[in-house]
Amino acid sequence: MRPPSPLPNVFPYRTIQERLRQVVSRLLPDADLASVQVRPCADPRFGDYQATALIGLAKARQMNPRQLATQVLEHLEVRDCCDSVDIAGAGFLNFRLRVEALQETLHGASRADHPLVARAEQPKTIVIDFSSPNVAKPMHVGHIRSTILGDCLVRANRLLGHRVVSDNHIGDWGTQFGMLLVGWKTLLDRAALERDAIAELERIYKAINAQCDEGQPGYNAALHASARAELVKLQAGDAGNLAIWHEMIRLSQVQFEAIYGRLGVTFDHALGESFYNPRLQAVVDELMGRGIARESDGAKCVFSDRGLPPKEDPLLIHRDGEWQDNPQLIQKRDGGFNYAATDLATLAYRLETWSPDEIIYVTDGRQQLHFQQVFATFQRWHPELARRVKLIHVWFGSILGEDGKPLKTRSGENVKLAELLDEAEQRALRLVSEKNPELPEAQRREIARRVGIGAVKYADLLPNRQTDYVFSWDKMLALNGNTAPYLQYAYARIQSILRKAEDSAIGDRPSAIALGTVEERALGRHLLNFGLVIESLATEQRPNYLCNYLYELSSHFTRFYENCPVLKAEAPTRASRLALCSLVASVLRQGLHVLGIEVLEQM
Ligand code: ARG
Repeated sequence: MRPPSPLPNVFPYRTIQERLRQVVSRLLPDADLASVQVRPCADPRFGDYQATALIGLAKARQMNPRQLATQVLEHLEVRDCCDSVDIAGAGFLNFRLRVEALQETLHGASRADHPLVARAEQPKTIVIDFSSPNVAKPMHVGHIRSTILGDCLVRANRLLGHRVVSDNHIGDWGTQFGMLLVGWKTLLDRAALERDAIAELERIYKAINAQCDEGQPGYNAALHASARAELVKLQAGDAGNLAIWHEMIRLSQVQFEAIYGRLGVTFDHALGESFYNPRLQAVVDELMGRGIARESDGAKCVFSDRGLPPKEDPLLIHRDGEWQDNPQLIQKRDGGFNYAATDLATLAYRLETWSPDEIIYVTDGRQQLHFQQVFATFQRWHPELARRVKLIHVWFGSILGEDGKPLKTRSGENVKLAELLDEAEQRALRLVSEKNPELPEAQRREIARRVGIGAVKYADLLPNRQTDYVFSWDKMLALNGNTAPYLQYAYARIQSILRKAEDSAIGDRPSAIALGTVEERALGRHLLNFGLVIESLATEQRPNYLCNYLYELSSHFTRFYENCPVLKAEAPTRASRLALCSLVASVLRQGLHVLGIEVLEQM
C-alpha cells in the first residue's frame, strides 16, 4: 500500500468532501456539487461524518442509491484521513476519522496555524439589516432580539470570511412623526425634555396617538387630520418641521448609541428610512407605470398578477372559500409613502451599492407578510436583479414574562432596554459579591458587567429563535446549566489551570497532540467541529446551534478533566493535555465572541 499523501487541507472533513465531489463529478458530470456535503454524524455509533447527498442524486436519475454509493466508494480514496467508510441505510456514506488526522489538525490549531474555522470556499457579500429601532420611541425588549441576533449573524459570517455590510435601518420617517410634530407643537414640556428626552417624546407621542385611533373612544378627527397634514408637510420638505424632526433624531441617537455601546454592537451604516425619501416617488411611479401597482380607493397598491400558485402568492389571501386580493399599500391617499415603498427603494439601493449575494432582515415574526410581499413585488419590479440575490427574512418570536404573557413592567409598560441591562448588571453584581467578597469593587463591577450582559444575550440566543421564550433572571444567571455565566466560568477555570501550569513547568509546547484516552478523543472530535457549527449557524441563521455546541464542549471538557490528569501527568502527555485545554479555551473564547459575549480571565 502506498503511504498516505499529506493532507491537502487542514480540515479532514473538507478533504473528504473535496474528494467526494471529485468522484461524483466524474460519475455524474451534471450533478450540483454544492449539495455534496460532509457533515457530523448525528449518532456517533455510525461514524464521525456523514454524506447524504448521493441518495437525492441517485433518485433524481432513477438510479439505485446504494448502487451509486458502491460505485462512488470504488473510486474514493480517503484512507489518509479515514479508518473506514461504510454505506448505510438508503445510501448514506459514513466516515470514521483516523485519529492521526484529528491529532494533526488539532496540533496545527494549537500552533495557531488556523483558528479551527475554515474560511468560506466562496466568500459572499451579505447585507444584514438589524436592530432598526424607531426614532422618538424608546428601544424596548422587542428590539433587543433583533440587535443581539443580527450582531451574532454579522460576527459569524465575518469569521467565515464573508464580506458583511451591516446596516441599521432606523425608523426615522414613519407616520409617528405626524403625531410627534403635533405633540411637539402643542404639548411639549421643555424642562421635561431637558431631563429625559426620550421619556418626554414618548409622552407626547402617546398623548396624541391615543386620540388618533379611529373607532376608539376619545378619537379626535380634527387632531388626526392635523397629524396627517404635519407629516405631509414634513415629507414635502417644510423647513420648520424638518428642524424639529432633526432635533428628535439627534435626541434619539444619543440613547441608541448608549445602548449599542453597552452591548458592544457597531454598524457599518445607519441609513434610516428618511435616506430613501427622495427615491420614493420614482419607485411608486415606476410600479404604477408598469402596471405592478394601481389605484384603489385613492391609494396606490401592488396587486397580485396571479403569476404564482395562489398558495405561494403573498398578495393573495384565502377568504370566504376563494382566493382574494391581499394588496400591499405603497402610497396613501394623502400622498404619504408607506413602509413598503421605503423597503422597495432600500432594496434597489442596496443592490446598486453593494451588489450583495444575500440580504438578511432581522425582525419579529409579525413582519413576515410584509417581507414576503416586498420580496414578491421586487421580483416583478427587477427580475434580473432579483435572480442574483437571496432575500432572507430572519424572524423571531416574543419575549414573555414569567406569567407567559409578553414581557411588561409591573405597571404594564413595555420594558425598556436600558433598564433591563441595568437590572442584569445589578443582579450579577450581587452574585459576584456573594461569591468573591474579597475582590476590589471595580473588579467586581467589571465581572458583573460582562456576566450580566452576557447572560441577557445568551438567554436570547439559546432558544430556537422562532419560539417565544420566558424571560427568567434566575435561569439566565445560574452558574449551573446552559447559561452564559456557566460558559464564562468554564473558560475562567481553564485559564486558571493554564496559569498554574506556567508556574510549575516551562517548555510545555507539545511536539504533538496525542489523544490516548476515550475522553481525549471525544473532546478532540468535538473541537474539530467548531467551524462546521459556525457554518450551520450562518447558513440557517441559528445561533442556538453554537450555544448548544459550546455547552456540550464544556461537558466534554469536564469529563476529560475528571478522567485525565493534566498538571500531574508525565511530560509529553502533560504538554499534549495542556494544549488540549488551551484549545478548548480558545474555542470557548471565539465561540462566545461570535455570540457577542465577553470572557473573563478570573471569575
Ligand atoms: N423599524 C422597524 C421596526 O421597529 C424595523 C425595520 C426593519 N427593517 C426593514 N428594512 N424594514 O419594526
